Amino acid sequence: MKFNTKTIHGGQKNDPAYGAVMPPIYQTSTYSQSTPGNHKGYQYSRTNNPTRNALENAFASLENGSFGLAFGSGLAAIDAVIKLLEPGDEVISTNNLYGGSYRLFTSIYKKFGVKFHFISMENASNIETSINKNTKLIWVETPTNPMMNVIDIKACVAISKKNNLLLAVDNTFATPYLQRPLDLGADIVMHSATKYLGGHSDVVLGALIVKNKELSEKLYFIQNSSGAICGPQDSFLVLRGIKTLHVRMQRHCENGKAVAEYLSNHPKIEKVFWPGLESHPNHKIAKEQMSDYGGMLSFTTKGNNFKEAIKIVERLNVFTLAESLGGVESLAGHPASMTHASIPKTEREKTGVLDSLIRLSVGIEDIEDLLADLKQAIN
Ligand SMILES: Cc1ncc(COP(=O)(O)O)c(C=O)c1O
Repeated sequence: MKFNTKTIHGGQKNDPAYGAVMPPIYQTSTYSQSTPGNHKGYQYSRTNNPTRNALENAFASLENGSFGLAFGSGLAAIDAVIKLLEPGDEVISTNNLYGGSYRLFTSIYKKFGVKFHFISMENASNIETSINKNTKLIWVETPTNPMMNVIDIKACVAISKKNNLLLAVDNTFATPYLQRPLDLGADIVMHSATKYLGGHSDVVLGALIVKNKELSEKLYFIQNSSGAICGPQDSFLVLRGIKTLHVRMQRHCENGKAVAEYLSNHPKIEKVFWPGLESHPNHKIAKEQMSDYGGMLSFTTKGNNFKEAIKIVERLNVFTLAESLGGVESLAGHPASMTHASIPKTEREKTGVLDSLIRLSVGIEDIEDLLADLKQAIN
């Protein structure tokens, strides 16, 4: 199957009970057994649930993986990956990453003895110099949140294979429509399915996808043992969202391009960060590993004025000022005071998250309305 067919049919079959075309929401915690151990493959819904399984199969299909795992949130999915490690193990992570991932790594796992090195990965050779005998995992987010840096996944794969490390890629911003890290050789793909996969800002859910059976078994064991699963209703919502991923992404990309070009030519705008712009420092890699450039972008205003940035996001009408991204509706955020407030100012400024930085999740509305809204808010 090609990608657009997979979003609708990948890993799916009509429900065996009544032939329902959409998987029913199996709102049950447990399953009857005729004699102990004799059941239809399901015993308890933390371990397994048919609606969640349908979603996990869809995840695996979209990313060209063999095994999918669904969690109660993107962070729960990341948490499961870090639980593969032991005290004393070390992780090399991108230094520009989602604030919640940074908080999980530093505030939770540091005290369990897992050490994180946050480095700039735009030049992948930086990774090699940070590897030591305790390094076990490379954590990549590309494009990064919110600076839209693009990291060369193939180069990271070469380094991880050479040094026998696991390579995990947070593919939330790109989605499998634009980029498929497992095809490039990564070991684990992670998603905040809360974003584009769900696509309608109505559910919080996370995903992991892998190819390797042994690795999948370790992760399923963690999923069942730690129990951070998602419910059947939420699984259904993400499954429904995935069915239109390709058409939504096509429009997100078109609108993202138009907004990036508009802002690039605006006299009050200092910089626009969108990987599709030729001026983007990693445009060449983006062109190689992504099929288009998506609807996420950030920009700074001239003068880097905190108050002015706040005023712009307050004045927006069609764009909603809100955390999160990837829904059909356009959202705007001010990372320094919202999503990235948990990262100390000195740390976040080192990575470009300035006071005037505004992040846009460009939705699929009419582009004329989006541009008019930006125009009135900035002018
Ligand atoms: C790139 C990225 N990764 C992970 C997460 C965490 O996902 P969730 O909010 O579903 O826990 C987010 C949330 O914004 C994100 O943007």
